[in-house]
Amino acid sequence: MNTAKPTINYGLEGIYVDESSISKVDGQNGKLWYRGYSIENLAEQSNFEEVSYLLLYGKLPTKNEYDDFTGKLKDRRDIPKEVRDVIKVMAPTSHPMDVMRTAASMLVMYDKDPNNRNLDATIDKVITLIAKLPTIAAATGRFREKKEYIPPDKSLGHSVNFLYMINGKRPNEFESKLIDLMFILHAEHSTNASTFSVLVTASTLADVYAATTSGIGTLKGPLHGGADEAALKMINAIGSPDNTEKYIEEALEGKQRIMGFGHRVYKTYDPRAKLVRSYLEESLEKEPSDEIKRHLQIALRAEKLMIDKLGKSKGIWPNIDFFAGPLYRVLGIESEMFTPIFVASRMAGWGSHIVEYWNNNKIVRPVEWYIGSLDLPYVPINKR
Ligand SMILES: CC(C)(COP(=O)(O)OP(=O)(O)OC[C@H]1O[C@@H](n2cnc3c(N)ncnc32)[C@H](O)[C@@H]1OP(=O)(O)O)[C@@H](O)C(=O)NCCC(=O)NCCS
Repeated sequence: MNTAKPTINYGLEGIYVDESSISKVDGQNGKLWYRGYSIENLAEQSNFEEVSYLLLYGKLPTKNEYDDFTGKLKDRRDIPKEVRDVIKVMAPTSHPMDVMRTAASMLVMYDKDPNNRNLDATIDKVITLIAKLPTIAAATGRFREKKEYIPPDKSLGHSVNFLYMINGKRPNEFESKLIDLMFILHAEHSTNASTFSVLVTASTLADVYAATTSGIGTLKGPLHGGADEAALKMINAIGSPDNTEKYIEEALEGKQRIMGFGHRVYKTYDPRAKLVRSYLEESLEKEPSDEIKRHLQIALRAEKLMIDKLGKSKGIWPNIDFFAGPLYRVLGIESEMFTPIFVASRMAGWGSHIVEYWNNNKIVRPVEWYIGSLDLPYVPINKR
């Protein structure tokens, strides 16, 4: 028996689990590419549909390919009545991420061949999920507030239609740009916890719906996708800009984590956070409410203090989740709905990783170093 304790990589930190050509995160220089295209270029020049195609197929679509892809997305947006009914039952009392997980899992019922893992069949299932998850999210938001379901509108683009379905009104040009930006920025981020969780499930050759359900469960936590909701809660708890420094200093002294800061890979400013921050500043020019102005003032003071205290010394910088909440509030979205938007966007990345992984599948099965007892004598229950 081997008794030499191996090096244990807690949280799989620094462990390479595969090769991938989907996205590259350069954590030292604060850069991100999807299929070789910089996130800044895609955010400025592309849209979510095109980015989803790029992630899934590995190349930008031609005009015909784009029309075919967006046509499929539009045709599949609506969700079955049974799914809406379950959302309606759960939404008033459950967190929207629990509703998302359950409703996404239900979609397997409508797939006649869920275990078909051929390339085309897999991509087709992913397209269905990309199409329907925003509708599930929007229906959850509506039913939480005891409002009517708004069916998708085929005349609108993917993310704009989501905003219309949840808010019940057509967004203006600036709002449309903001929601599409958030969908693009959240679409993919290599082997983060939820993508890895998707791959663990997919590696057992379970179906795409099972893998997606795993991903949603993993994304919920505040150390991962749930940080956007948690960060806005903290900004609200700070309350007024002048309370920012005191609140953060006390939280750090109490060894609390400041939500929306720090990252396993980025040891500098998250490039996605930079983009969100710049659009948030632009929204200040559009006659924002007092709430939005207050959020931004608090966020900027918190950002400065955190960078001064922990940025250069410990590599803890703002991540995308810090500014996401204030930006979603500009769009009138409630904080519990932030992470469901992350789900709807990240489906493109999760699906692309399933396609890539199944190309060279190997079941994920790491090992633990056992530190318990061996060969204990079994004592019957009446003698213990
Ligand atoms: C993202 C996160 C989970 C990464 O964790 P990680 O790579 O395992 O890093 P660690 O938890 O080992 O943290 C390293 C050190 O930085 C500190 N740290 C990390 N993030 C911190 C934060 N947000 N606030 C305060 N301190 C933080 C840790 O306390 C630890 O300090 P120590 O070395 O003195 O013990 C972590 O930064 C975090 O909890 N951030 C807040 C949640 C969040 O915003 N998540 C979204 C990420 S996109």
